Amino acid sequence: MNGLNGGKHGSENVVIIDCGSQLTQLIARRVREMKTHSVVLPWDADAGRVRDAAPKGVIISGGPDSVNDEGAIRVDEDVFALGVPVLGICYGMQLMAKCLGGEVSAGERPEYGVTPIETDEASPLFRGLPREFEVVMSHGDRVSALPPGFRATAWTRGEGLAAAMENAERRLFGLQFHPEVVHTQNGDKILGRFLFDLCGCRGDWDLGGWIDRTIGEIGAKVGSESVICGLSGGVDSSVAAALVHRAIGDRLRCVFVDHGLLRLNEAAEVRASYEGMGLSVSYVDASDAFLSRLSGVTDPERKRKIIGELFISVFEEEASRIASAQWLLQGTIYPDVIESGGKRKGSAVIKSHHNVGGLPERMNLKLLEPLRDLFKDEVREIGRLLDVPAAIVDRQPFPGPGLAVRCLGEVTRERLDVLRAADAIFREELERFGLYGGIWQSFCVLLPVRTVGVMGDGRTYSEVAALRAVNSADAMTAEWTRLPPELLDCASKRICNEVRGVNRVVLDITSKPPATIEWE
Ligand code: XMP
Repeated sequence: MNGLNGGKHGSENVVIIDCGSQLTQLIARRVREMKTHSVVLPWDADAGRVRDAAPKGVIISGGPDSVNDEGAIRVDEDVFALGVPVLGICYGMQLMAKCLGGEVSAGERPEYGVTPIETDEASPLFRGLPREFEVVMSHGDRVSALPPGFRATAWTRGEGLAAAMENAERRLFGLQFHPEVVHTQNGDKILGRFLFDLCGCRGDWDLGGWIDRTIGEIGAKVGSESVICGLSGGVDSSVAAALVHRAIGDRLRCVFVDHGLLRLNEAAEVRASYEGMGLSVSYVDASDAFLSRLSGVTDPERKRKIIGELFISVFEEEASRIASAQWLLQGTIYPDVIESGGKRKGSAVIKSHHNVGGLPERMNLKLLEPLRDLFKDEVREIGRLLDVPAAIVDRQPFPGPGLAVRCLGEVTRERLDVLRAADAIFREELERFGLYGGIWQSFCVLLPVRTVGVMGDGRTYSEVAALRAVNSADAMTAEWTRLPPELLDCASKRICNEVRGVNRVVLDITSKPPATIEWE
C-alpha cells in the first residue's frame, strides 16, 4: 500500500462490494458526499477482508449478471452474518434473496427507467418519506419469492412484486431500484436513512480533516528525505504537489517537462500558476527533441510510444540532477486503483496511455501517492482548500501526449501552430457563451485532409478543423455536447477567417462508445 491512509482514514467506514455495475463508484461517491468514508472492494473479497475494513455497514452493488446463471458473480455469504447492516441494490438485492433462501426469476418484461413505487412507511429506510414516488429501475430479473424472515417494503405500482425487502431483525435490506442516481426521488434520503439511522454513522468525515491528517502522515513518512514530482499542469499532480509542499516545503522538487505539445500559452500559464503556489520547479523545454522524434510519424500508437518513452528519459535525466531524492510523488487517484468488480480481465488495449509507472523501480525511488484514496471531485475540493489556482483545479482533462493525438497525420511545428490557433478560438467562443466550465472536454482536431474553398476571389486548398465537445462523468463513456448553432457559427467563421491553414470546420457528433474522446 503506497497510500498514506492504508484504510485508517480517521473515520467510520462503509464497504461497497462491486458486482460489476457501472454505478458502483457513484454509490461510493454518494456515501462520501454524506460525509462517510467508503471503500470499494471487488465481489470476490471474502468476509474476512470486508471485516478488516471495519465497516459500519455494507452495500452490495448492482451488476450485469443474472443470479441464476452458471458462473454468475456471488459474494461470500458470511458477509450477511457480519452483524452490520447490509443493503443490496438491484443485483445486490437479488443476490441477497438467492443466498438467503428466496427465489429470483426473469421478469415478464425488463424494467428500465423511471417507475413509480409505493412504499411501506413502517420500513426504517422509507420512514417519513412520501408513500409514492418515482425511482430508476434497470433490471431483467425480479425477486419472485422473498427469503424466510423477510418482508416486502415497496412495490412497483400495479404489480405484486417487491421493489424493496427487509429483515429488520438481521438488519438486511434490499432495493430493486437505484437510490444513487439523481432521477430516483428521495434516493439521497434513503441512503441517508441506511447510513445514519441503520448503520449509526455520524457523518463526520471531511476533507479539511483529511488534509490535516495527511500532511502529518506525509511529514512522518518522508522524515528528512526529499521527494521529486513530475508536474503536468493537470489537477492530480498539482494537488498532490500542493499537499506535499505543505508537509515538507522545498524538500519537494518538481520537474515540468514541456514536450512542445501543449495548447496556446499553456506552458507559460502553468508555470505562472506553479510559481504562485511557491513550488520549486525545474522547467525543461524538450520540444525540439520531441518534435524531431515525431518527424514523419503518423501512426497513433507510434506517436504515443515515442512520446511516452522520451518523456520518461527526459524526466529521469532531470530528476537525476536533483541530488538525494528518495521518493517519487505521483497523483494516482482512487478510480486508478479500485480493483475491477467485473469478471472480464485483460480487455483489449484501445490506446496506450503514457504514464511514468516503471520509473520508481528504475530510479530506485519509493513511491508516494497521497491521493490514492480519493475521487476526482474530492481531489478538486482539496485543491480549492489548498488554494491551488482555479485554472488548474477546474482544468479539463488533457491527454499526456498532448496535441500530438489531436494533430492527425504528421506532427510538425507549423501544423501544431494552426491547431493551437483554432483550438484557442473554439475555447474563447465557448467561454463567451458561458459554456466552457460545464463541459467535460472541448477541443479542436486538425485533420490531414485538404479541401477546396474560396476566399475573396481566390481558391484555397487547406486542411479541415474538427470541433469536439463531450459531456462525461468519468471519461469511460461520453455523450457529444449539443452546442448552440450560434456558437458553432461564430467558431467556424472565426477559425476560417483568422487561422491560415484551415478553410473548413466540421463538428464531431459521435459519442463514446463507439468513438473515443480523443481522435487518436
Ligand atoms: P479516450 O480518447 O480513450 O480518452 O476516450 C479518455 C480520457 O483519457 C484522456 N487521455 C489520456 N490521458 N494520458 C492521459 O493522461 C493519455 O495518454 C491519454 N489519452 C487519452 C482523454 O483526454 C480523455 O479524458
